[in-house]
Amino acid sequence: MIERRTGSDQAFDSMASAAPLAAEAPARAPRVLLGISGGIAAYKSADLVRRLIERGAEVRVVMTEAARAFITPLTLQALSGHPVRSELLDPEAEAGMDHIALARWADQVVIAPATADLIARLTHGLANDLLTALVLATQAPLTLAPAMNQQMWAHPATQENIARLVARGVRLLGPASGSQACGEVGAGRMVEPVEIAAAMLPVSGGGLRGVQVLMTVGPTREAIDPVRFIGNRSSGKMGYALAAALQQRGAQVTVVAGPTSVAPALGLECVAVESALEMEAAVMGRVAECDLFIAAAAVADYRPEAPALAKIKKDADSIALRLVRNPDILARVAALDRPPFTVGFAAETDQVEAHARAKLKAKRLSMIAANQVGAGEGGFESDRNALVCLWCDGRRELPMMPKPALAAALAALIEERYGAQTAG
Ligand code: PMT
Repeated sequence: MIERRTGSDQAFDSMASAAPLAAEAPARAPRVLLGISGGIAAYKSADLVRRLIERGAEVRVVMTEAARAFITPLTLQALSGHPVRSELLDPEAEAGMDHIALARWADQVVIAPATADLIARLTHGLANDLLTALVLATQAPLTLAPAMNQQMWAHPATQENIARLVARGVRLLGPASGSQACGEVGAGRMVEPVEIAAAMLPVSGGGLRGVQVLMTVGPTREAIDPVRFIGNRSSGKMGYALAAALQQRGAQVTVVAGPTSVAPALGLECVAVESALEMEAAVMGRVAECDLFIAAAAVADYRPEAPALAKIKKDADSIALRLVRNPDILARVAALDRPPFTVGFAAETDQVEAHARAKLKAKRLSMIAANQVGAGEGGFESDRNALVCLWCDGRRELPMMPKPALAAALAALIEERYGAQTAG
């Protein structure tokens, strides 16, 4: 039997072919092709899609026929944002991204779970379904996360197959040991998705280890009466993706968040607020402990002066709402005697760079990330975005890409600029 470590140790094994998240802005997101074969651990593959995307990857999913008995393609399509493929001879799919194009598209291929049957077919170079054909057709490095009954894993046939695949350069993550769905205990559990994602897409450097980050994320709601509010289109996608990317670089991140439906990354400390005044209080109460402050929230600039205590009745033909200015949270933080490294965002409909540079100067920020909003792709609510990042004597453009990938690139830039300031 092959001696190998199991579980988290092994999942973090490094390998030349793993694609670290680059410190420089990537021209595009890393592309991961996720293959799913038919085992009970397939339910975990849904979480793996999320974890890979959180780390900035674009993910496409290919399932074997048996995998479809354990998890629906629709779930994986919804999570990956792309159609899921299973058929080798699917005229519709072959007219779009054919299986050879898909094989070339991938920077990395991971099969999780990899069953005993799939491992045997890969060992013998079979191409009797889309997933095995893709493995033969791709030049991308292949990672397997085996999952099966412990006796099947220990069987000499499986062990010989694994030895041959490893000798061919295939990377193994796991299996982990523990109690299994079949009631037995032993080696054969699929390594946890979060560990697979970390091993596939390691973050270079981790240079924010020990750095305390405080962020604002999402919209604010300014009450008109107990049931109505003034709000905006911020979904929180950009802010939460940035929080996850900073965490992956080792930072300790606290998020002060307005109402959104985004599920925060594991381990993120979240403080829920509604209004700009609540957000301001939550930030000012915590800012003394932070090294880095990032304002990704779309804070309402104005609020109703006197919200009604009871629901306003629709008796009048028109009503007037008097608004008063909200405090500028970012400007307040940057004006502290000993401000943290302060990163603002700028949401602009026109002259994006000029307006953003004016905000950088006026609010005395360390850096600002500007995005175009209100027209075309990107900005509010969208899954994709582009930024132009400015600091006193520099700029960097981060092109249109999925928000998790953009967040990974922005986190790398923030780490770089923060490092330059603290070194200087
Ligand atoms: O949430 P998503 O749907 O993913 O969309 C992302 C985003 C478009 C909301 C995000 O990328 C973004 O641009 N966030 C900042 C939006 C904004 O309010 O920009 P602004 O140009 O109006 O404000 C400039 C800066 O001052 C921002 O950092 C803002 O957080 C901060 N500000 C503004 C007003 C205020 N009262 N307090 C503040 O702290």
